[in-house]
Amino acid sequence: MSNNKKLVFSGVQPTGNLHLGNYLGAFKNFVSLQKESECIYCVVDLHAITVFQDPKKLKENILETTAGFLASGLDSNKSIIFNQSSVSEHAELGWILNCVARLGWLNRMTQFKDKAGSDKEKASVGLYIYPNLMAADILLYKATHVPVGADQKQHLELCRDIAQKFNNDFKSKNFFPLPEPLIQKNISRVMSLRDGLKKMSKSEESDYGRINLKDTADDISKKIKKAKTDSLPIPESEKELEKRPEALNLLNIYSDITKTSLKKVLEETKGKEFSYLKERLSEVLIETICPVGKKLKELTSDKTYLEEVLKKGREKASKKAEENLKKIREIVGLL
Ligand code: TRP
Repeated sequence: MSNNKKLVFSGVQPTGNLHLGNYLGAFKNFVSLQKESECIYCVVDLHAITVFQDPKKLKENILETTAGFLASGLDSNKSIIFNQSSVSEHAELGWILNCVARLGWLNRMTQFKDKAGSDKEKASVGLYIYPNLMAADILLYKATHVPVGADQKQHLELCRDIAQKFNNDFKSKNFFPLPEPLIQKNISRVMSLRDGLKKMSKSEESDYGRINLKDTADDISKKIKKAKTDSLPIPESEKELEKRPEALNLLNIYSDITKTSLKKVLEETKGKEFSYLKERLSEVLIETICPVGKKLKELTSDKTYLEEVLKKGREKASKKAEENLKKIREIVGLL
């Protein structure tokens, strides 16, 4: 029996203060995938607690991220939207996969090294085995395609290694499909408006580094005006942007929002000052982001509705998860 159906899965950590990076890097892409495929989108709260979270804030952030999904255009009748910890099969498969993944594989994960910092002894064990839980998220549904940022590529490769080892060890050829990453080409990362080498982040101290989805039109135009550039005009070719990260970032954001290739944007704007691009950019950002922000504000004030959406999603996800985990338990020989 062949099963060629495409199934998309992705996870987003519950963070407060959603920004343009979340929108362009993830949500917008999720929405376009929803049009053509069956999709499961998960707020990964168990991943969040690999570093300490204030319990009250965590709850709020789970709901806020759910609201972010919906405000960006995800439809809870089409896609499955739920939070990870509400389907306990994630943790259970996570354990089984802890026993499949090898220490040597995890020791190569660059994100652990970055996140654990210089004192690895003090990192939580959860942070170390984080990629195994991510593999469980994906494999629990036998997902075939996973939209992620470029920084998650290594984790996805690990997931494929785990799937393959499981299939081999348990003589269950093709049981887990090997999931493919879907990494957006032009803008896998939105960078800070103040430092083109740093990712746009909710934790950057200055608010001028990011466009929050809840920013007003006024905030947006102020921030874009103040965004760092250099003194050169807009160049003719992409090559000339290599050593100009801030310039590249603004052009990339513009290109992504207007769905115009960077090459075309350069053709149209070459030789002009950045103040020209900034004005255009402000306009399109306001047009795109303000309606999302408005919806987001409405939704975050309706906690009951958000909880209902998650509950409905949990029911649908659980059904699939239970069914697959039952087979997995049989394959492993658990009674
Ligand atoms: N690690 C991902 C991130 O930080 C989040 C994540 C958890 C995820 N589980 C996933 C992404 C499964 C894709 C599929 O971005």
